[in-house]
Amino acid sequence: MNVLVTGGAGYIGSVCAEQLLMRKYRVIVYDNLSAGHRAAVPKGAQFVRGDVADAQSLARTFRRFKIDAVMHFAANILVEESVRDPAVFYRNNVAASLTLLEVMKEHGILNLVFSSSAAVYGEAQTIPIPEDHPKAPINPYGETKLVVERAAEWYHRAYGLKCVCLRYFNAAGATRRLGEDHQPETHLLPRILDAALDTGRDFILYGDDYPTPDGTCVRDFVHVADIALAHVMALKKLPKVGFAVYNVGLGRGYSLREVVKAVQEVTRRPMNVTVGPRRAGDPARLVASPEKICRELGWQPRYSDLRYIVRSAWNWKRKHPHGYGSRHDC
Ligand SMILES: NC(=O)c1ccc[n+]([C@@H]2O[C@H](COP(=O)([O-])OP(=O)(O)OC[C@H]3O[C@@H](n4cnc5c(N)ncnc54)[C@H](O)[C@@H]3O)[C@@H](O)[C@H]2O)c1
Repeated sequence: MNVLVTGGAGYIGSVCAEQLLMRKYRVIVYDNLSAGHRAAVPKGAQFVRGDVADAQSLARTFRRFKIDAVMHFAANILVEESVRDPAVFYRNNVAASLTLLEVMKEHGILNLVFSSSAAVYGEAQTIPIPEDHPKAPINPYGETKLVVERAAEWYHRAYGLKCVCLRYFNAAGATRRLGEDHQPETHLLPRILDAALDTGRDFILYGDDYPTPDGTCVRDFVHVADIALAHVMALKKLPKVGFAVYNVGLGRGYSLREVVKAVQEVTRRPMNVTVGPRRAGDPARLVASPEKICRELGWQPRYSDLRYIVRSAWNWKRKHPHGYGSRHDC
């Protein structure tokens, strides 16, 4: 099976491409390198530098590689930026995704696994959050993910698209070769690890006045390899599923202070933690109910113990203190 992985030079897409290759799928990574790294594309994958918004380039790639299924990771991901500049997010996350759907339809490619997000829920009314929880995004990033989920569902009804939307909670951790390298880095774990690596640097916690036990946000961390595993399982189930949405989380939340503590225990490095103001668009608690994905796809996380997540990310960070190097490396 030939799988096109949009955003496969990015953090989660590259790990997913790696797992697909391990399972003998043919992988074509399609990425414009706006945020990804050529060096993150796993050996064995074909690489096409292209933009999801470019219908002609997509069409050429579909024909050239006889694509059977698409995993769509490519997106802008910075929540705070989405609040400041929603236009960019509507263009790249919504308009480009609609282009992808149209070109897939024209080429009869009706298999899609879509990277959605817990951000579609907004402030949680119940914890853990089931998939049928009200969807009320509190930032444009979450809104753009919801729009694409809904478009995919209508494509399913009208054109027979088979689609699984995976709503990840917090992806974290690294494999032996691949890790997290966003510019700028806004994700918690790599930021704490940067502070641990460079002991002079402060680590800023954004807000400690949330309505949570220690005042810091609570998040559900999933190892990136377990997220990739969910994709492989979703791809296999596509023919039977039709259209489905699954949370990808553990059902166990950690406060950001607990994560800092785990980092201190794993790295044994002194660290200067300070508290800054809240960030725009951050809900207090996001914890998944993973019951549906476990029951229907048989997903069982293997690597998502917090200490293992931290250790894997720390090992990668020590080997790659400056990430993959320059932005457009290789
Ligand atoms: N990281 C998380 O914790 C998390 C949580 C929930 C959902 N997600 C979703 O998972 C997906 C991957 O996230 P990530 O952390 O790996 O992000 P990332 O920034 O590391 O990867 C995104 C990749 O997409 C590429 N890209 C962006 N726009 C493109 C376009 N128009 N055409 C081609 N390539 C394009 C970038 O160059 C980059 O390589 C995103 O859709 C994100 O919304 C991530």
